[in-house]
Amino acid sequence: MSTSTVNVPVASPLTAGQRIAMHYFIAAMVLFLAQILFGMISGLQYLMPDVFYNQLDFNVTRMVHINAMIVWLLFGFIGSVYWLVEDEAKTELVGAKLALINFWILTTAVAVVVVVYLFVQVGPGELKSIWLINEGREYIEAPRWADIGIVVCVLVFFYNIAATFMKGTWSGISGVLVLDLVALAGIYCAGMYFTPNISVDQHWWWWVIHLWVEATWEVLVGCIMAWGLIQTLGASRKVVTTWLYIEVALMFGSGILGLGHHYFWIGTPEYWLSIGGFFSALEPIPLVAMVVHAVYDSGRHGFKSANHPALAWLIAHAFGNFFGAGVWGFMHTLPQINLYTHGTQWTASHGHLAFFGAYATINIAMIYIALQRVRGNVWMSGGLSDNGWKWKWSLGLLNGGVVGMTVALLIAGYDQSFVERALEGSTWSGYFQAQQSAWFMQAMNWRMVFGCMTTVGILLMFWDMLTIGTSETRGKQALAPLPE
Ligand code: HEM
Ligand code: HEM
Ligand SMILES: [Fe+2]
Repeated sequence: MSTSTVNVPVASPLTAGQRIAMHYFIAAMVLFLAQILFGMISGLQYLMPDVFYNQLDFNVTRMVHINAMIVWLLFGFIGSVYWLVEDEAKTELVGAKLALINFWILTTAVAVVVVVYLFVQVGPGELKSIWLINEGREYIEAPRWADIGIVVCVLVFFYNIAATFMKGTWSGISGVLVLDLVALAGIYCAGMYFTPNISVDQHWWWWVIHLWVEATWEVLVGCIMAWGLIQTLGASRKVVTTWLYIEVALMFGSGILGLGHHYFWIGTPEYWLSIGGFFSALEPIPLVAMVVHAVYDSGRHGFKSANHPALAWLIAHAFGNFFGAGVWGFMHTLPQINLYTHGTQWTASHGHLAFFGAYATINIAMIYIALQRVRGNVWMSGGLSDNGWKWKWSLGLLNGGVVGMTVALLIAGYDQSFVERALEGSTWSGYFQAQQSAWFMQAMNWRMVFGCMTTVGILLMFWDMLTIGTSETRGKQALAPLPE
């Protein structure tokens, strides 16, 4: 390594936006841990149905597992946007105090909701339960009082971000980001109203789930990725912004009507079979573009980055998004196939790889970018004092663990589609036959083995996050600009 690229660390206090971001990142990591804990309990309950029976039942552990996931990912996104807003707007955050109060209100509400999930889920379901206990829509089960609180908090967040850009300067990235936040917050409201008609209820619920993960969240991470590549590689703003526009156009072009792949069998009109099949089959195209984009930019900079762990996680995001959402989604998106795979472990296989690959990864990358600054703009490129074994091993264990779980669940899903659907014609007895077959049961064991690997990866990653750069004396590697 040449000495000309080594600077001294420049320790300066974090800006207001960065301090708020750190609050969100820490809360996100605590919730990530809760997600994994409850995932492990849910998985164990598949193998030993007596575990916590009548005390902490599968419906509750599963609900906490996936709700904690949604909330930690949202916290991570909010943190990421607070982290980059001042840098991007070239001015100070508007309403820093408001943002801090907002954080505490939101976090307290989440804590209350989790306590209610854990202790108050048994009893008659009445209209009152929707307001106070559980709204009953998978992934966003929070009761209505919390829903309203969440909307208010998100509006405050939105105001802070939009007003900061209005005070400072706009860019291609911030323009897309702010418009996307309007859609992201607005769509949440579709999951808030009650109707006793289950088809209508599901119709609107998918507006939140699908239009979040396959449209607005994808665009949001596109913005974060663009900014992240500039930070870690010194990528050209012109290049990343052009890619961002192309990706957004493709994403909305396929993702919005791709919604139809959830309307195949829930009592919605039959035309959704062709609309959903056709448009959702196009959804992988922007995800290919994202991989090409990330690899192209990294390659152009000879994989020289100012922050190796962050770049590694950004690349994990590009591939995880492509495989988890694009390939694993495509596999069961045509109605002819979905007829057999719908609601089996095949779906869970896709759910795990997509949520982890597309969204957990990029939040982790942003946290590494933040940590570099927190530790005083230290060196985080190659040649770390401990050879970076902690971040490298945790990267490997986490990705290996999730991929292992994904493959185990896919095998279980194949078994269910074949035995329960193809052979037994979706009968009640066919359902149990599939669950008791050797392939299914072995897959459930393997899921736990790889779940343990994932858990070890997370613990190691936390250790790394607490220590990386603390004893570093070299400053951040300067990014040499490329010839145009
Ligand atoms: C990062 C983006 C994505 C995430 C996080 C994601 C996640 C999920 C999850 C969690 C489910 C299960 C929902 C439930 O509980 O019923 C699901 C269902 C589904 N996803 Fe995705 N998905 C993504 C992108 C895609 C893409 C791009 C496609 C198609 C190319 C796709 C196709 C499907 C289909 C067809 C189902 C329904 C499965 C069934 O019938 O049971 N997904 N997705
Ligand atoms: C320690 C590792 C984990 C274990 C043991 C685990 C276990 C489970 C179990 C047992 C379920 C319920 C499946 C069912 O209803 O049949 C589930 C659902 C789910 N988990 Fe995990 N999980 C783990 C990690 C993760 C991670 C890291 C993510 C994503 C970041 C994730 C995302 C999901 C999603 C989206 C669902 C709902 C899937 C669907 O309904 O199709 N899990 N998990
Ligand atoms: Fe979808």
